[in-house]
Amino acid sequence: MLDAGGQYCHLEARKVRDLGVYAEVRPSETPAAEIASARGIIISGGPSSVYDPGSPTADPAIFATGQPVLGICYGQQLMAHLLGGHVRPGDRGEYGLAMLDLVATSDPMFASLSGRQQIWMSHRDVVETPPPGFSVVGRTDTCAVAAIADPARRLYGVQFHPEVVHTVRGMEYLSNFVFRVCGCERDWDPRHRVPLIEGEIRQAAAGRSVFFFVSGGVDSSVAFALCRRALGGESVRGVYVDTGLMREGETEFVRGLGGLTVEHAEAQFLGALAGVTGPEKKRHIIGEEFVRVQERIIESRSLADERWILGQGTIYPDTIESGGERGGESGGAAKAAVIKTHHNRVAGIQKLIQAGRIVEPLKSFYKDEVREVGRELGLPEELLDRHPFPGPGLAIRCLCADSDAPVEPAADGLIVPVRSVGVQGDSRSYAPVLAIDAMDHARATALTNRIRGVNRVIAPVETRVPIAQMRVHAATLSPARLARLRRADAIVRRISHHSGYDRKVWQFPVILIPLGTGEAPDSVVLRPVDSVDGMTAQSVTMEPELLRSMCAELMALEGVAGVFYDLTHKPPGTIEWE
Ligand code: XMP
Repeated sequence: MLDAGGQYCHLEARKVRDLGVYAEVRPSETPAAEIASARGIIISGGPSSVYDPGSPTADPAIFATGQPVLGICYGQQLMAHLLGGHVRPGDRGEYGLAMLDLVATSDPMFASLSGRQQIWMSHRDVVETPPPGFSVVGRTDTCAVAAIADPARRLYGVQFHPEVVHTVRGMEYLSNFVFRVCGCERDWDPRHRVPLIEGEIRQAAAGRSVFFFVSGGVDSSVAFALCRRALGGESVRGVYVDTGLMREGETEFVRGLGGLTVEHAEAQFLGALAGVTGPEKKRHIIGEEFVRVQERIIESRSLADERWILGQGTIYPDTIESGGERGGESGGAAKAAVIKTHHNRVAGIQKLIQAGRIVEPLKSFYKDEVREVGRELGLPEELLDRHPFPGPGLAIRCLCADSDAPVEPAADGLIVPVRSVGVQGDSRSYAPVLAIDAMDHARATALTNRIRGVNRVIAPVETRVPIAQMRVHAATLSPARLARLRRADAIVRRISHHSGYDRKVWQFPVILIPLGTGEAPDSVVLRPVDSVDGMTAQSVTMEPELLRSMCAELMALEGVAGVFYDLTHKPPGTIEWE
């Protein structure tokens, strides 16, 4: 999978793996010789235009090796551009659902796929003239070149995204490419990799012991269990740092995993965060305090000496979503734009990585594959089914404000002056939130598309007073607010677990915002989302009865003036609010 810069690249690779075929992401410019052993090559989508200076390109030699190549979206445009076709800026972009007409051909790439079908598009430029040797096999009303083929050279391109669920027959395109065109076999199963991973761990450890900072999340717990199995419990130590920013009952849960000690650092973290309101500042401080705690532990337990290395639960998308500092194995920089700094990539850890004193046994696996590995190891479902929880914990779900500010009326609703992060295009933005009066996802999407500067839309479930009478209050990460959020989060988790709702959603953040009244200064925002790997996400609905029961308990909490529901998809709004 050649990464031309799209967050879709990982999704494409994951979908190929879901078919039972191993796929690896490499920078788009990777020389043909380095990928000569691949059975096939897919060039991913991406946000650039082939005419932008410095836009991702590919080694033209990949088209002459005889290996099949499939270009997706930008990948199709790049292929057309490099092989002598013509790409031009579209009159307007085409985003969302479209109907594709695919001609009947005997080409294995399009076997059984001819006819009219729903696809999903996200592009501005279009291929105007396909390169010599190619024929156009698919079109939509607005895109005349939606699928191209040169069967003799086994080169193919599609303008739509086969990897997203909205492309109804998308998996059949990927399946045709990997099995019928490339001749791959269904032989990739992460569960069968366990002995191999254990071998890699032993090799990386080279007789040294491994030390883990375990977070209680799926990734670090599975990585920890793998190392214990590979090296024996005696050679693997784990510490769980209680930052004071964890969820209710978390420390007890993690203790139950066994083989760990708990480091209490609540006072240190909360002290460093006292009075801080800026989202990035919080993240930065937490990252720094983490390094400080890590260094203290390393010192006090003499882990700095050569007998120890650090174990981490880094998974494949982590290595790219933070900008892929290490790049692909060929050394090029990965193209996914920097969305957030994940704290397992902070400077202190970078030093250890550079010194080679680190083992990351899951770094080539996707989340669902990590769960499969965990199952193979016999870890409890309760652990494996946990939703992801961010490293900085409740701190980034407890929004703060520097000063009081009123809620402002706007044409389409009310502007709530808190700072919430969004991702539009490939860059992030902080913006106030729009509150509308209806639980209407379609309207929320239309509003974020239309109104510049609005990247998140919420609707009230219940409020003590009309929203227009509420204010945003100056607020910090005080123990009282953290306790309020912790209670709210515990209520939501309990109810969504008992109802089975937590198994229907990918993640369910509960956010505290400083919006309320004098007596009840805060509001709770519910943010259940569906996602594949967190890179894109859909806000999902909830049965009214379930929502009512959650809301009743939340409204009974001290200091809570209202309960809201986040209607925003990602993009434009990130899953977390900070
Ligand atoms: P966003 O908010 O970027 O989140 O849509 C995508 C996924 O990443 C998690 N996340 C984080 N995880 N440290 C982490 O360990 C962080 O700073 C962080 N920020 C977001 C988020 O919970 C979601 O699963």
